[in-house]
Amino acid sequence: MTTTKLDRRLFLAGLSASGIALASPTFATTKPLVQVLKDPACGCCGAWIDIMQREGFEMEVQNASWETLSEYKANKGIPEEMASCHTGLLEGYVIEGHVPPADIRRLLAERPDAVGLTVPGMPYGSPGMGPESEREAYSVFLIGKDGTTEVFNHYKAA
Ligand code: CU
Ligand code: CU
Repeated sequence: MTTTKLDRRLFLAGLSASGIALASPTFATTKPLVQVLKDPACGCCGAWIDIMQREGFEMEVQNASWETLSEYKANKGIPEEMASCHTGLLEGYVIEGHVPPADIRRLLAERPDAVGLTVPGMPYGSPGMGPESEREAYSVFLIGKDGTTEVFNHYKAA
């Protein structure tokens, strides 16, 4: 799909601009590919990436400085108050922060005309952020192309 190719090019261009070594090209796969940019010091990103892998997503991960990362988020259309730690790209969509895999699958099934999904901040008990049994209430937001957001899903406190 052309949007995927385009996003991949932008992703790689962004990485080379920040002087990061590129991973070898990814082979064709039936798993949905998520390209993740994250801060190397962030441990919770790794926990989310592990969960995503177990849920059947292909994860391609690159580290970047916080400055590069925040610039990247802005370029991808993520409003500042909607930002989290890592930023993923998936089939033309942005996946920001600890978004549950089920919501990502729903996004791919419904394919709304939007920037993507975000879980702003790092709510406790979201995937990769501690036990679900101690979850605090949080929402998954759909970011529109005009920068507005709407609630895509809501998780009640455990
Ligand atoms: Cu995090
Ligand atoms: Cu993260």
